[in-house]
Amino acid sequence: MTTLFDSFRLKDVALRNRIVVSPMCQYSAEEGVINEWHYAHLAGLARGGSGLVIAEATAVSPEGRITPGCAGIWSDAQAEAFAPAVRAIKAAGAVPGLQVAHAGRKASANRPWEGDDHIPEGDPRGWTPIAPSPVAQGGGLHRIPREMTIDDIRRVQSDFAAAARRALEAGFEWLELHFAHGYLAQSFFSVHANRRTDEYGGSFENRIRFLVDTFAAVREVWPENLPLTARFGVIEFDGRDEETLAESIELIRRLKELGLDLIDVSMGFTAPEARIPWGAAMLAPIAARVRREADLPTAISWFISDPAQADALVRDGAVDLVMLGRALLENPHWPYVAARVLHKERPAWTLPAPYAHWLDRYRAA
Ligand SMILES: Cc1cc2nc3c(=O)[nH]c(=O)nc-3n(C[C@H](O)[C@H](O)[C@H](O)COP(=O)(O)O)c2cc1C
Repeated sequence: MTTLFDSFRLKDVALRNRIVVSPMCQYSAEEGVINEWHYAHLAGLARGGSGLVIAEATAVSPEGRITPGCAGIWSDAQAEAFAPAVRAIKAAGAVPGLQVAHAGRKASANRPWEGDDHIPEGDPRGWTPIAPSPVAQGGGLHRIPREMTIDDIRRVQSDFAAAARRALEAGFEWLELHFAHGYLAQSFFSVHANRRTDEYGGSFENRIRFLVDTFAAVREVWPENLPLTARFGVIEFDGRDEETLAESIELIRRLKELGLDLIDVSMGFTAPEARIPWGAAMLAPIAARVRREADLPTAISWFISDPAQADALVRDGAVDLVMLGRALLENPHWPYVAARVLHKERPAWTLPAPYAHWLDRYRAA
């Protein structure tokens, strides 16, 4: 039976275990360039023992940032700034991954701890968000975005491809396309956010066109031997969940045919009236269904922090990888602690020697 601590192979990449650092924005870059904060953050997470470290949502273009502090990869200088982080992650035995993103109508916002709302129109720190339709996200994100032209759509798609090329040059070995959480790609799929009447809106075929074509553009430049994955919101919890799930699974099948290697199952966050049933590993049954029906390696996050539960998700075959966010912010060494809790024997890997020498000895005493 496969456990949380078994290795995982996808294409030419091998993870030492099934624990993944879920991408987490730090809102601490300048002009999209990451810095010492990110290096320490990512190195610490990799040293903690996770198999894969996916760096935060990184914008493919300036207007694709969520906040002015978001990381970007639309320039060579931004890509080069990732290289030390990539080296540190690899030196700690983890695989370096990057999530590339466009924030769509949620762009031009204040940092979460500075309001999490749109920067007021006219404030020089902000910019005009773009989206499939002039429909605001809602809540504090009140700005009505500019409706994208066909030229905008083509430009953003080539920005995604250029971002993938730069991510590869920076040394990343795993790429995740951010197609979830109400950002640009998710909003094209969403019946709540997309009111277009051209070939990018209306029918299922039209609403998936942006995602399918963007994926195909990236697939052309991202090497076949490295994992190309996507995070997608398969459910909104808006009362039309069966329909959304069925459409989502069909979309994932289409992406699989185009070369998607793994699906990171998440939520849509585009429905104003969503009633999300927050709870421990609440997406597990949904992910298990996606994994079964799309027949594709699958990952989930959301409220997973108990080692036994994380292990059971893998053992029961609900998912292939378990992604952790806040549990790893609280303790980057969560994998080490989980291994101690779950295994009488030492797992095949441990913390780096300057830590492990003391902790393993102490434990044996
Ligand atoms: C500080 C922080 C930043 C996040 N940034 C991103 C991001 O860049 N991309 C993304 O897809 N999800 C992001 N998320 C969501 C996490 O990746 C994860 O899916 C979510 O926190 C649920 O997992 P958890 O319950 O283990 O925290 C972020 C979450 C946190 C807490």
